[in-house]
Amino acid sequence: MSVHIAAKKGEIAKTVLQPGDPLRAKYIADNFLNEVRLVSKTRNIYYFTGLYKGKEISVGASGMGAPSIGIYSYELYTEYNVDTIIRIGTCGGYTSELNLFDVLNVENAASESTYAKFAWGIEDEIIENQGNVFGVINETAAKLSQAVKSTNIHTSDIFYRATPGTPAIAEKYNCTAVEMEAFALFANAKHLGKNAATLLTVSDIIPTQEQISADQREQALTPMIELALETALH
Ligand code: HPA
Repeated sequence: MSVHIAAKKGEIAKTVLQPGDPLRAKYIADNFLNEVRLVSKTRNIYYFTGLYKGKEISVGASGMGAPSIGIYSYELYTEYNVDTIIRIGTCGGYTSELNLFDVLNVENAASESTYAKFAWGIEDEIIENQGNVFGVINETAAKLSQAVKSTNIHTSDIFYRATPGTPAIAEKYNCTAVEMEAFALFANAKHLGKNAATLLTVSDIIPTQEQISADQREQALTPMIELALETALH
C-alpha cells in the first residue's frame, strides 16, 4: 500500500496506462484486458491489473490536474517500481488546424505551474516526455498505419478563464493544444529517471467551440487506447 493506492507491492505492472477518469480506466479494463483484477479503489480512483495479448499491464486514473497526477504517478514510480506511465487523455485544440478526434503524441509540455520547481527544483517552464516511449508510440503508430501528430502542448491549471484566446506560454512554445497533467507527469519521471509519455485525443477545438459529444466520447478514444496498449507490448 502507498498513501493513495491500496494495491499490494507486486500487484501493479511495470507499465501503467493512466487516463484522467476512473470510469475510463474501468472501461479499458473491461473491454481490452483479460484476467483483470481490481487492485485499488481508494477514493474511487480504480486501479486494475490484467493481461493485454499476454502481457501484464495496469490501468488506473490520475484524476485531474498537476497536483493529482503528481501524487499518483509519484507513488506508482516509487512505491510500485513502475517503469513507464503512458497518460491517455483529452485536450482542447488552440488552433482549427487540429480536428476533433486527432491523436497527439506530446513532445514537450509547457506550463505556468510551479509544480516542477517546488517539487524537484526543476526551473524549466517546458519539460520533454521522458525515456524512449514517445519514439515507440510513433513507431507503433506507423506499423498500425495510425495517424498521430507529435506536438508541444500546454499543461494548464485553469479550465475556466475570463479571457479567451491562447495564453502567452502556449504562443511562446508553439503549443497546439491544452490539457492539465502532462507537465507534472514529465517532471516526476525526469526527477526519478523513469519513462513517461502522453497521448491526447482532441475533444474540443477552442476557437470554434466544436466538441466531441458525451455519446461519442467512449468510442472516440478507442484508437488512442489501442495505440497505448500496443506500445505497452514493447
Ligand atoms: N482545457 C483544459 N483541458 C482540457 C480541455 C481544455 O479545453 N479539453 C480537454 N482537456
